[in-house]
Amino acid sequence: MSKIFSPGRINIIGEHTDYSYGYVMPMAINLGNYLEYVPYDKISLRSDAYNEEIELDLSMINKKQNKWIDYILGIYNALFELNLKPGGIKGRIYGNLPISSGLSSSASLELAILVALNNSYNLKLNKLQLALIGKKAENDFVGVPSGILDQFAVTFGKKGFAIFLDTETLSYEYIPFPKDISVIVYNTGVKRELAKTGYADRKKIVEDSLRILNKNSSKEIIEKDLEKLDPLYRKRMGYIIRENNRVINAKEALKKNNLELLGKLLIESHNDIAKNYEVSSKELDFIVETSMKYGALGARLTGAGFGGSAIILALRDKAEKIAESVHKEYIKVFEYKSFYNIVESNDGANIIEN
Ligand code: GLA
Repeated sequence: MSKIFSPGRINIIGEHTDYSYGYVMPMAINLGNYLEYVPYDKISLRSDAYNEEIELDLSMINKKQNKWIDYILGIYNALFELNLKPGGIKGRIYGNLPISSGLSSSASLELAILVALNNSYNLKLNKLQLALIGKKAENDFVGVPSGILDQFAVTFGKKGFAIFLDTETLSYEYIPFPKDISVIVYNTGVKRELAKTGYADRKKIVEDSLRILNKNSSKEIIEKDLEKLDPLYRKRMGYIIRENNRVINAKEALKKNNLELLGKLLIESHNDIAKNYEVSSKELDFIVETSMKYGALGARLTGAGFGGSAIILALRDKAEKIAESVHKEYIKVFEYKSFYNIVESNDGANIIEN
């Protein structure tokens, strides 16, 4: 029996910038999925989170089930398209990563399976190939038009570091994450599925804008170019070009250990995405505002928004107190089953027992 740990991720900054090939700065976290498995002649998996066991013949991989197993079938389809023909797998998936909460539970699941198949069937795929195959499964089979952020973070995560990534060239840099900062992930309790939100609408506006402006990446767009766009497009793209700049500034702030500047950039990012990209929610805004009231360094929504989670950065010795205070205030106002985790950075999807 082999065992894989595949993490979730937070995105420190650089939100909704990946599908216009801009900058992002995620970090893999120590919440994730474990997969215990043996090679098998069928796909036979149990998910504790869904409390369900599914067994399918390999001849069934292109039959969408509209269930969690689709992430796994998507991986098989993507591999078969590349003419890689792994055999089946039997195992159990469990862990502590909440689903539909903006922490990439789907990418975590995809990469857990990929790492297992890569290992057991000697597919010889490198990390970048793994991340791209994960994205392909999500885009083509599951039908979520996401960028590369999640799968890249889940694959390339490194304990002690955030990842600064140019999503156009896929060149990246590991940025040491200060040991004296804690990251609180506050889960609003409002679940969302990307396929059913305004994610695709946002993506369409961004793609149209790139076409109209004749640019390959949002990194090439300057403020003046925005004059050529209609008001709604200008508003959305204005956010994206400012966010790209903030990612670069946040990287520099981290390198200089300028925590005050880092916090300020997170707040700016949140306010800008709420006002001009309109993917925040009253719950997320409440968490950001309340955590600042209690002395956080900075906070913002993380992931796609529309519910899900916020991250709160705090000095390590203050984190627990801030998290508790935010939680107390939140449950006075909102009735969702909200909760928080204080997380650490983590390595990417990996075999932990072979
Ligand atoms: C989701 C998508 C990512 C990215 C974020 C927003 O997590 O899967 O590709 O677009 O939303 O930054």
